[in-house]
Amino acid sequence: MKRISVIAAAALAVLAATGAHARSLDAIQKDGTLRVATEGYYAPFAYFEGKKLTGFEVDLTELMTQKMGLKLEWKTISFDALLTGLKQDRWDLVISSHGITPEREKAVTFTLPHYCSGAQVISTDAAIQGAKDLSGKTVSAQTGTTYLDYVQKNVAGVKRVVNFPTNEAAMNALMTKRADAWVTERFLAKEMLQKNPKIKFHQGELLFVEKIAAAVAKDNKPLADAWNKAFAESLKDGSYAKISQKWFQEDIRCP
Ligand code: ARG
Repeated sequence: MKRISVIAAAALAVLAATGAHARSLDAIQKDGTLRVATEGYYAPFAYFEGKKLTGFEVDLTELMTQKMGLKLEWKTISFDALLTGLKQDRWDLVISSHGITPEREKAVTFTLPHYCSGAQVISTDAAIQGAKDLSGKTVSAQTGTTYLDYVQKNVAGVKRVVNFPTNEAAMNALMTKRADAWVTERFLAKEMLQKNPKIKFHQGELLFVEKIAAAVAKDNKPLADAWNKAFAESLKDGSYAKISQKWFQEDIRCP
């Protein structure tokens, strides 16, 4: 009995040490490495080229951690598991093109937005351009995204909304005619069009625009502040502009 309670106490101590709380900025600085999670299937923001994770958000995170004096360790995991992992202290920061929404803000602390962009209607049918053309249609989008949420809540008359764990699967639904339209991010769509010139996609109207930011655990404001300081520096010293030009040939910072 006694032995069991000693073991139980030890287990509790381990839990408390590794536990439910996100690592503080102090603890991260002591350790020297920032653990960052992303989906990794979202070109040109964060995606794999062979085994190498690359993209705009990857370059930006490398720049931020350099400025913060930290090393960087990446984890990749499915999009809809990213924000909850912050609470479980599985990683310190998430950067995966999350739009800032009031709903998400209840659960996490967002950094300053690192770009602004819009949700675009993509179709193989040139007649499908905007929200009004989605009436009676089947629309695909990635699970857990603001795109899916928007179509479900704000577009009238949609026949069916189909969701997929990855953006690519949502696109495939369009290509194989299981969906009439696909809602996704406009730079991502542009890249898909350039990479697959044979596919006759039409980039339609923007359904909405959003501010995209990285996120840390709710109680980890000091970490967000440290990131924001580095980010503000990068806007001033031209290093942000350089990365943006490299990936988009334009500056995608929020106005
Ligand atoms: N901007 C959208 C959102 O906030 C989509 C993000 C998707 N990101 C990704 N890595 N698949 O929900």
